[in-house]
Amino acid sequence: MSRTTVRDVAAKCEAGEPITMLTAYDAPIARQVDAGGVDLILVGDSAGHNHLGYDDTLPVTIEEAVSNTAAVVRGTEEAMVIADLPFLSYGASLERSVENAGRFLKEAGADAVKLETPPGGEFTVELTDRLVELGIPVMGHLGLTPQRTKEMGGPTIQGREGADSAFADELVETAERLVEAGIFSLVLEGTTEGVAKRVTEAVDVPTIGIGAGRYTDGQVLVITDLLGLGAEDFRLSEQYADLDSVIREAVASFVGDVEGREFPAAENAYEPIDGE
Ligand code: KIV
Repeated sequence: MSRTTVRDVAAKCEAGEPITMLTAYDAPIARQVDAGGVDLILVGDSAGHNHLGYDDTLPVTIEEAVSNTAAVVRGTEEAMVIADLPFLSYGASLERSVENAGRFLKEAGADAVKLETPPGGEFTVELTDRLVELGIPVMGHLGLTPQRTKEMGGPTIQGREGADSAFADELVETAERLVEAGIFSLVLEGTTEGVAKRVTEAVDVPTIGIGAGRYTDGQVLVITDLLGLGAEDFRLSEQYADLDSVIREAVASFVGDVEGREFPAAENAYEPIDGE
């Protein structure tokens, strides 16, 4: 089976089927996510707090992001792999931004990149246009854009104003400009259902929501939240497993077995080759 392509994503949406996306940051988890049947894997900059031990997404470097993406590509066969461009890997200049985005396809083998756009964001619309012209598929990201947390004064829910607000108007306008620039899909994060519905109805590319309610064309979750692996308590997410407990219990069993001299047993040791 070959990898999901931008055409497959469009066709699935056109057929009225919900699109599924999860994050992954390394090969072993990505392998299971792929086997579980998601359409898209996002190597999110949420790796910052969910994989690399930072407080948030801002410190993630392009080297770390390229390395995480390459690991996810190596661990998967079917899902389309989308690399999230980390904070300030784009924006300093068009040239630098294009080169950095290109690294994810050339060096890591990603299928597409994702970048965050503030309402009315001129630069990222221009960058999207350039990347698409060069053959790099782009996923947009509007609403709550965590890379701008400091500028916003905290991780505020941006779309709370409702579907008829000036904010919603601006979001729809920005979404339309991103579509014109060539995005193949659009993440909507942390908006009210009404805002996400309005944007979804306004654009002809699939929208993928996180904390944006029921009316987007697909859903994305952060894998560590879904698995209960150091999960944050995020009301709008859903935890499907409790890996923290599974891991702690496995480690405690190992410690108990070694301290109780039950591991290793004779069957865990090599037999001598000469049979002595
Ligand atoms: O980095 C990330 O995980 C994301 C998702 C929340 C969409 O951008």
